[in-house]
Amino acid sequence: MSNILLHADNISKKFQHYEVLDNLSLSVKRGDIVSLVGKSGCGKSTLIKLISGLDSDYSGSIYINGKPLKPHSSQVGVVFQEPRLLPWLTVAENIGFRLGKAGAKHPRVNELLAEMGLQGKNDYYPKQLSGGMAQRVAIARGLFCRPKMLLLDEPFSTVDAFTKMRLQDLLRDAAEYNQATLLFVTHDIEEAVYLSDCVNVMQTNPGRIKATVNIDLPRVRNRNDPCLAALKSQVLELLDDRGGECAAKEENGNEANDMALHLAKLAL
Ligand SMILES: Nc1ncnc2c1ncn2[C@@H]1O[C@H](COP(=O)(O)OP(=O)(O)OP(=O)(O)O)[C@@H](O)[C@H]1O
Ligand SMILES: [Mg+2]
Repeated sequence: MSNILLHADNISKKFQHYEVLDNLSLSVKRGDIVSLVGKSGCGKSTLIKLISGLDSDYSGSIYINGKPLKPHSSQVGVVFQEPRLLPWLTVAENIGFRLGKAGAKHPRVNELLAEMGLQGKNDYYPKQLSGGMAQRVAIARGLFCRPKMLLLDEPFSTVDAFTKMRLQDLLRDAAEYNQATLLFVTHDIEEAVYLSDCVNVMQTNPGRIKATVNIDLPRVRNRNDPCLAALKSQVLELLDDRGGECAAKEENGNEANDMALHLAKLAL
């Protein structure tokens, strides 16, 4: 079995005459936590919609597990920036939504509620939840069908700093426990380097993967690790497209990555 779970091959996407994505290719390894960063408007959410199967109007191919992506596949779960819970359904009904009303009674609901630290909240309605709780319910809903891949589009951008840190750790542990592969979009570069096995940096106009920064550190990380600070600087430089200096750095992406890690380790 190949170790590549997701392969997006030469994806192009137009809105009217505007080519948002042009020959974008991206591979995600099975079991990895992968982030996608890039300036506003570069096409991150557009790409997530294509991979989730919500939009099939594009050219190129997307393979999950070596097979062409099918719309509404239960192999892919999605979590958006806002929880998007259905207000007339309880927490349990929202989590088990894919199975209809019966989903609320499925044993997986209680399992996921426990994992998300929401035991006993089955019968709450979305309006009774805080923003962080609602987003945990959205993650539980995304994991309900045991998707091979969970896509998350800026999942923690609307919560406070402490809730965000807690949710990041919870997501990392949930990915491990559920053996899910994650692809998440974020504007928070600290979050990207803290959580990811690799960070994909997108360029704008046309939207494409400009560079991939591998993060060869244990999954459970110290937020104050100087290696993370060095990697954050590297990603920020790749995002900064002013001047020709970046082009050279991009060419030497992996070498720069190794050097940054090496220097940070020496500083320990
Ligand atoms: N339905 C649509 N119709 C027309 N243009 C669209 C549509 N959706 C997105 N676009 C355009 O495609 C481009 C990419 O949008 P997208 O939402 O993917 O960006 P993004 O990278 O997710 O940005 P952000 O970081 O601000 O969320 C933008 O120029 C946007 O205006
Ligand atoms: Mg977006």
